[in-house]
Amino acid sequence: MKKQERLRTSLSEEIEEMLNEQVMKEAKSSFNYLAMSAWCERRGFVNSAKFFEIQSDEERQHMKRIFNYISSVGGTAITPSVGKIQQEFESFRSVFEIGLDQEIEITRSISRIVDKCSELKDYTTANFLNWFLGEQVEEEAIARRCLEIFDIVDQQGLGFLMIDREIALVRDQAQPPADA
Ligand code: FEO
Repeated sequence: MKKQERLRTSLSEEIEEMLNEQVMKEAKSSFNYLAMSAWCERRGFVNSAKFFEIQSDEERQHMKRIFNYISSVGGTAITPSVGKIQQEFESFRSVFEIGLDQEIEITRSISRIVDKCSELKDYTTANFLNWFLGEQVEEEAIARRCLEIFDIVDQQGLGFLMIDREIALVRDQAQPPADA
């Protein structure tokens, strides 16, 4: 049965597995951002809470985009299980540091799949993943800009409120990827 299914798709098992792993990473990323949003909300950082909620929604869209791609090329898309999600964070700044680390890891992970696509001459999937590489440039830039705000503003008392206010503007100021 499995063998027959494989014959009906040009998607290699190796790439299919990597794509399903990416589906899981995007889903986990979405839940991580949701936990960050709730953490910020509990502390009254309402703009940051909204910021992470939007990030969470975007990651869910990414997850669905890859999930649907696997199905559309005849592969087997697997609903991911994401394990335990971190709910508590050391500090306001650490939430954003974890966000940037997460984006960097996602960029590397997608690059590894593109590498494998080149090796196996799967140009269709490589082409599909190009959009994600462009998206990651924007996502990393946004996450880095957030941390810059922490570096600029005094991190105590009113400074935290100022940081939270500035976070609300970061997404509006970001340059969208060329084909967005
Ligand atoms: Fe979908 Fe920002 O990684």
